[in-house]
Amino acid sequence: MKRNILISIALTTSIAFASDANLTKEHNVTEGNVTISPIVKEGVGYIKTVGKMLKSNMKKHMLADKSGVQAVAFCASQASEITKEASKTFPKGVRVYRTSTKVRNPNNKPDATDLEILNFLEKEIEEKSFKKKPLLKKLENNTTRVYVPLLIEKVCTKCHGDTHKINPEINKIINTQYPKDKAINYKEGDLRGVIVAEIPNK
Ligand code: HEC
Repeated sequence: MKRNILISIALTTSIAFASDANLTKEHNVTEGNVTISPIVKEGVGYIKTVGKMLKSNMKKHMLADKSGVQAVAFCASQASEITKEASKTFPKGVRVYRTSTKVRNPNNKPDATDLEILNFLEKEIEEKSFKKKPLLKKLENNTTRVYVPLLIEKVCTKCHGDTHKINPEINKIINTQYPKDKAINYKEGDLRGVIVAEIPNK
């Protein structure tokens, strides 16, 4: 999962904004040929910090054990903790989290705003109009959220792919720790979810 997060970040150079009326646009900062809203920049910065922490740990465990068994144990016990720990280093009120329409960990369930964005992205993928870009959403409670989409890559299918092809040891860990797991049977290119930075308005 961590690799993908970083890949999303790398792609922010091709940043663009959704034309959906619900998604607010702010055009202020120019980098290269692209105009980036300061809040998107800030949010992507937080997401990048969390992504780096997750990625370096994931890589370490994947290298130590290519089957992914060690990595799944790491994800199961540490992914949420790492995300929460990183959030503590951000300004007060900033929160970074991951969510999906099909969650593995029920604590990662989307709220109504998350669902709106996830459905919007899924529709874009279905209609082949999807572009990898952060989205901005202003909430009524004085916070703004920046969403970065996470697509399924080959490495993700080790733990989120066809259940019949997942290493039985990995399956065992997943089934024991997440009896209500829905995050399986994804194919490369599917939307796995989003990573979100929630920022209080200044
Ligand atoms: C080694 C196994 C493994 C791999 C590989 C893996 N994941 Fe996961 N993933 C997990 C586990 C375990 C969880 C549950 C973590 C938790 O309890 O918060 C999870 C949770 C997630 C979540 C949070 C939402 C949810 O379902 O609870 C997202 C988003 C996610 N993974 C995306 C990805 C993406 C994208 C990739 C590929 C780049 C990937 N994962 C690769 C094991 C893995």
